[in-house]
Amino acid sequence: MAQPVEDVRTSTGGCPVDHHGFEPFTQKDPFPAYARLRADEPVMYDERIGYWVVTRYHDVKAVFEDWETFSSENAQAPVRARGPQATQIMKDGGFTAYSGLSARVPPDHTRIRAIAQRAFSPRRFKAMEPGIRESVKRALADMLAAPDRTGDFLVDVAYTIPTVTILTLLGVDPAMVPTYKRWSDSRAAMTWSDLSDEEQIPHAHNLVEYWNEMQRLVAEAHADHRDSLIGDIVAAQDAGGEISDHEIASICYSLLFAGHETTTTLMANSIRVLLSHRASWDALVADHSRIPAAMDEILRYSGSIVAWRRRATKAAEIGGVAVPAGADILLVMGSANRDADVFDDPETFDIGRENARSHLSFGFGIHYCLGNMLAKLQNRIMLEETTAAVPSLRLADGADIDFRHNLSFRVPTSVPVTWEA
Ligand code: HEM
Repeated sequence: MAQPVEDVRTSTGGCPVDHHGFEPFTQKDPFPAYARLRADEPVMYDERIGYWVVTRYHDVKAVFEDWETFSSENAQAPVRARGPQATQIMKDGGFTAYSGLSARVPPDHTRIRAIAQRAFSPRRFKAMEPGIRESVKRALADMLAAPDRTGDFLVDVAYTIPTVTILTLLGVDPAMVPTYKRWSDSRAAMTWSDLSDEEQIPHAHNLVEYWNEMQRLVAEAHADHRDSLIGDIVAAQDAGGEISDHEIASICYSLLFAGHETTTTLMANSIRVLLSHRASWDALVADHSRIPAAMDEILRYSGSIVAWRRRATKAAEIGGVAVPAGADILLVMGSANRDADVFDDPETFDIGRENARSHLSFGFGIHYCLGNMLAKLQNRIMLEETTAAVPSLRLADGADIDFRHNLSFRVPTSVPVTWEA
C-alpha cells in the first residue's frame, strides 16, 4: 500500500523500489502497469521523477476539481531541470514566455481565461469547417495517389491539417507549418522529456526563436487589426480588457503548440485504434452518425495526453494517502480512463460505450481544455472524409507502432497504412 512521503523515502533501505512496471517516459504500452498501480498502489511516490503518481479515476478527478489545494503552477515546468548552457541561451535570447493559461492560477487564470474564451467563438470555428474539409480531401488524395498503395497516415494526413488550422485561426501564414512543427517538437522535448544538458541546446535555440516570433505577432496584430484570434484578444485589450501584451504573447506561445500537437495525435490514434478494431471501423464506414461517440471512446481508450501535473499548495490527502505541502503530483488520465469503478470492461474498445464522454483526456475543472471543440471538429471531418474515401484502409502488415519518449504526450511515431486498389 502507498505510504506517506517520509516512509516511502526511508523505508526501502537501499532495496530496489517497486514501481509496478510503471516507466514514466515509456509510452508504448503503459496500460498493464497502470492496472497494477490502480490495484496495488494508486497513489505512489516515484522518486525517479519526484512526483506522486495518481492512477484511479475518482482520485484524478478530485485533484483536478480542487484547484485551491492542487494548483496547476507546475503544469508547464520542465520535468528535468534546464542545463546551464540551455539556461544561458534562453536568458541571452530574452526568453520570458510563461504559460498562456494551463499553469496560471486564479485570479490571473480567471481574468485571462475569460478574455481568451470569448475569442474561441463557435462562429469562428464553424467558418473554418469548409477549409478544413478541403485540406483533408487534398491530403487524402495525395496519399491515395501512392502507386504502391502504402502511406503513413500520421505524416500524410494528421501531421499538417491541425497545424494549418491553428495557424489560420491565429492569422499566421500557413507556409510556416514546418517552422512551427520544429518549435513545437522542441517545446514538447524541453518540458516533458528526459534530455541531457547537451541535448537541450538546439531546443533552447528553437524556443528563443519561437518566443521572439510570438512577441512580433502581437505587435503586428496591434498594427493591422487583422481578423484572427490574436486580433480578437488585442481588440479586447484595446476595449479595456485587463490583459498585457506579454500575456497575449504567452497565449500564442501556448496555442501554437497545444492547438495542433494534441489534435495530430488524436487523428493518428483514431486511425490506429479503429483499424485495429475492424468492426468499429466498418461501423463508421456504414454510419457517419456514430463518429462523435466513437471519438469519445478513442479519447478514453487512447488519449493524446496521458498524464498532467498539479502541485499541492498545502498538506493534503489523495485517496487516503497523505501528501505534503509542495508535493508534485502526476495525474495519470490514461489510467483513470480505464478504471473499472467507472467504465465497464475498461480494457475493451467499444464505440457504443454509453459513458465514454466521462473520460478525463481534456482534464476537468477550471482548466478544462479550451480547444476541445476545435479538436473534435477537425477529427470528425477527418473521419468522415477518410471512411468515405477509403473504406478498405487498413494498418500495414506487421505494423508495430512505437511511441515517443515523453511524460505526458503519448504520440505514435508513425501509422503505416495500406488499401485496396
Ligand atoms: C485532442 C486534442 C486535445 C487534447 C487531448 C487536449 C488536452 C488538454 C488538457 C489535458 C488540458 C489541461 C486541462 C486541465 O489542466 O484540467 C488542456 C488545456 C488546454 N487546452 Fe487542450 N487539448 C487538445 C486540443 C486543444 C486545442 C485544439 C486547443 C486550442 C485550439 C487547446 C487549447 C487548450 C488550452 C488553451 C488549455 C488551457 C486551459 C486552461 O488552463 O484554462 N487544446 N488541453
